[in-house]
Amino acid sequence: MNPKYQTPRGMSDILPEDWPFFEKILRVVEEIAKFYGFKRIETPILEERALFERGVGLSTDIVQKEMFNLRTKGGDYLSLRPEGTAPVVRAYFQHGFKELPQPVKLWYFGPFFRYERPQAGRKRQFWQFGFEVLGEANPALDAQIIQMCLSVLKELKIENLTLRINSIGNSFCRPYYKKSLVSYLKKRFAGLCPDCKRRLKQNPLRILDCKDERCRQIVSQAPQILDYLCESCKEHFKKVLEILEYLEIPFQLDPYLVRGLDYYTRTVFEIEAKEEVGSLIGGGRYDLLGKIIGREELPAVGAAGGVERIMEVMKSQKISPKKEKWPKIFLAQIGDLAKKEALKLLEEFRKNKILVLESLGKDSLRAQLRLAEKYNIRYVLILGQKEVLEKKIILKDMKTGKQKLLKLKRLIKELKKIK
Ligand code: HAM
Repeated sequence: MNPKYQTPRGMSDILPEDWPFFEKILRVVEEIAKFYGFKRIETPILEERALFERGVGLSTDIVQKEMFNLRTKGGDYLSLRPEGTAPVVRAYFQHGFKELPQPVKLWYFGPFFRYERPQAGRKRQFWQFGFEVLGEANPALDAQIIQMCLSVLKELKIENLTLRINSIGNSFCRPYYKKSLVSYLKKRFAGLCPDCKRRLKQNPLRILDCKDERCRQIVSQAPQILDYLCESCKEHFKKVLEILEYLEIPFQLDPYLVRGLDYYTRTVFEIEAKEEVGSLIGGGRYDLLGKIIGREELPAVGAAGGVERIMEVMKSQKISPKKEKWPKIFLAQIGDLAKKEALKLLEEFRKNKILVLESLGKDSLRAQLRLAEKYNIRYVLILGQKEVLEKKIILKDMKTGKQKLLKLKRLIKELKKIK
């Protein structure tokens, strides 16, 4: 193989040692989703590029810099999905979910793609799980999504979590805030970082969460969106916070939290751990996304979590997913007939959920016993031509050295005792 071949930049193999983390996270997410009545949906990895351009927003970093775009031979413009909310809303309308009892609750778990500069916690292919509640505007749902997200992390035993929350208003009140923010920032244009100079024209709200020290200083004196919310947005946000307080969920009000996607209205939030990998989960309400992608207004709220980031935090907090069960039995075979019979037996074991290790590629008994020893396996089944013909098998206890001859017919029953 050409030694130059490596995974593409910012993408990694999910190695066998990492799968238990993925599986654990998936299991916890699935359990919580099912309990709360969410149904799983998986949308395609590729979508029409315009869905994200409109849905996520033309002026966002995701659309401007981070999309993996391609053109098919048929001339269609597609993109690797950078996020899951716009596709879920697309699916809601495409499949007539409007006719179902509302809200429609959906969850997903899969890979997403953003052409970002790779660094800790930032990859070009990463996995997300997401919860989306579509079709209702009640603030109780915002709080419930937050509660579910925190439950996932708590079930995973992650500690030191911070929930930051804000309201970014809606299409009535946000323009007033934007105007006042832009006028404040224009007066301080020279002090902004080059990125924010560009953002001022295209997406001024993003300047609020710029990490550059110069911008942070300017932003710290800027007008705050909470002072500009209209009555109904104010009322909505008040209710969300009241419910969180009732649930004793601690939160930090962060007037500068705006998030990197244009579709949000009202509630936005992020959950972080103390490890510096970026936010673990982010989400919010997106009542306008249905309209933005050319359909109807659809009140909705949701969130998504980064699986690799959560895995990193688990590793750093020394949380290990449950170890996989290791077989206690090794099946050794000698000779062609025994090899064939072993293949047959293995299927019987699988059907009866008996974990067993084997090494069909080896012919020598010694080599197979050595392997069983190496894997610390106590019981070895030994099958030779004679045993096959007599419909029997040897069971050897490697600890005591004792062995006995079992009838193949009774084997499963005997092994279940060991299991
Ligand atoms: P997001 O904040 O862009 O929101 O991504 C959600 C989570 O995905 C982040 O908190 C982070 O854990 C993970 N993530 C994002 N980008 C990367 C990356 N480059 N490398 C590793 N992990 C990453 C959304 O995607 C929205 N769709 C969430 C949402 C659902 N809002 C409403 N419903």
